[in-house]
Amino acid sequence: MSKTYTITAALPYTNGPIHIGHLSGVYIPADIYARFLRITGNEVVYICGSDEHGVPITIKAKKENKTPQEIVDRYHKNIEESFNKFGISFDNYSRTSAKIHHKTASDFFLKLHDNGSFKEITSEQYYDKEEKQFLPDRFLLGTCPKCGFEESYGDQCEKCGTSHNASDLIDPKSSISGNVPSLKSTKHWFLKLDMFQDFLKKWILEENKNYWKSNVYGQCKSWLDDGLKPRAVTRDLDWGVPVPVDDADGKVLYVWFDAPIGYISSTIEWAEKNNKSWEKYWMDEKTELVHFIGKDNIVFHCIIFPSMLKAHGEYILPKNVPANEFLNLEGSKISTSKNWAVWLPDYLEDFPDKQDVLRYVLTINAPENKDNDFTWKDFQNRNNGELVSVLGNFINRVVVLTKKYYESLIPDPNTLLSVDNDVINSANESILKIEQLISNFKFRDACTEFMNIARLGNKYLADEEPWKVIKDNPERVKTIIFVSLHLSSILAVVAEPFLPFTSQKIKNILNYKNHNIDWSWKNLKQKQFIVSNGIKINEPELLFSRIEDSEIQYQIDKLKDNI
Ligand code: 2FM
Ligand code: ZN
Repeated sequence: MSKTYTITAALPYTNGPIHIGHLSGVYIPADIYARFLRITGNEVVYICGSDEHGVPITIKAKKENKTPQEIVDRYHKNIEESFNKFGISFDNYSRTSAKIHHKTASDFFLKLHDNGSFKEITSEQYYDKEEKQFLPDRFLLGTCPKCGFEESYGDQCEKCGTSHNASDLIDPKSSISGNVPSLKSTKHWFLKLDMFQDFLKKWILEENKNYWKSNVYGQCKSWLDDGLKPRAVTRDLDWGVPVPVDDADGKVLYVWFDAPIGYISSTIEWAEKNNKSWEKYWMDEKTELVHFIGKDNIVFHCIIFPSMLKAHGEYILPKNVPANEFLNLEGSKISTSKNWAVWLPDYLEDFPDKQDVLRYVLTINAPENKDNDFTWKDFQNRNNGELVSVLGNFINRVVVLTKKYYESLIPDPNTLLSVDNDVINSANESILKIEQLISNFKFRDACTEFMNIARLGNKYLADEEPWKVIKDNPERVKTIIFVSLHLSSILAVVAEPFLPFTSQKIKNILNYKNHNIDWSWKNLKQKQFIVSNGIKINEPELLFSRIEDSEIQYQIDKLKDNI
């Protein structure tokens, strides 16, 4: 049954380009899910945008002697362009410095302000006298109270992922000047998270226990077991959404308060452009809201944002938050500051027509349940041994044989033998499995199952040997080629969520628009065949090419030169 889905992908911070960690953790799985839901007949809005506030951007601006606006303008453009070239199919990509976002976030804050969801607390906060500024979040460094990491930030430890209050840090110092900070009194607005403790316990620990991923459930449980406390949602900073009440000069909304509202403002922007009503995607109980994030964002999307939505009162809550673990690179943690990363713009420059190769490798090796490792050698092996030798090879053989035997006209099959029916049934089972797996956010297994259809095709051709049979039994070969073209049509349609560029190429080669039946997912399941005999297919075209050792060595050297 067709449903409406609002799919969000974590808004990337606009202080650097996108790298493979972001892609494998968030944007590729979300894109697979959105594409799958679209082609299976659902109404989908897939939302993202740049997260342009927050201390890291201010720090970068200070370092480069630029304004924060100049920094976010540069990276917003860079990020949006690389997502486009890579084929991420957002319906809208907005930015949190946009007017519509400032208005949406301010209105949201005011609603919570007016309905008593905040507590105003004046307390002593760390202050850098030399720099004449407060030291919220990343402006403060110190030892993590949980794991002992000495370079933990004021709000979050990058080593153990714990989110904490600045006052919990041991031996704090200013990240701008290195000074030991003094304390200064300031007022802030705290969201009364404790009011939502019981509700969240029931909603997450009871109702979603068997439905949400265990890593997500585990983190939520630990937060809820510790007991929720009011949490500040404003900061003393000059970059961000100004706190929209009278006595709040020099204060902005905490980036983690405004950023998730960015999903809503991006949806409003999209709805205005497309003449739709945005409320259907955020306020209709029948709509399924799904947030794709990395594991460091779990508490914000499962505890804090749902509390904000609940406090507001008119919004739906996420149906699922399928957070991924982290991707490492060549055995070490990806690090922006150490330049230990494969950056998407660089990849697209070095491999301009190989978007699907990276998508494939990052999907088949996604950190779905545990941290995983990307290596250039594995990238090469998967390209040469799987995409070229299995998928590319199968499609190419079928198209070349159709040209050779039938001048590219799809032959009329004769009676199917049991071997043909077995192959057809097995491919149909794979389609059902893929549906199930994607619906349950198991994209690695779904992608493996997709490749199994190509493996099945290769085995079928190898067993049936049409090139030998053609001499004695040309009628049988018509059936073998027809069944192989049928498998190719399945691969063309099912590839779309995983390998969108390749899907389009296969469809074009098979002349998909001119068959008697529409090549939809629904028809793939309902009709016996979507290929029609008598249709002329196009010239063979290589789908994938081998990647040589020298290209891989170049990437490995580049990575090592960078550090
Ligand atoms: O961790 C990050 O990169 C954040 N910028 C994610 C924000 S997600 C959302 F809430 F906007
Ligand atoms: Zn820590």
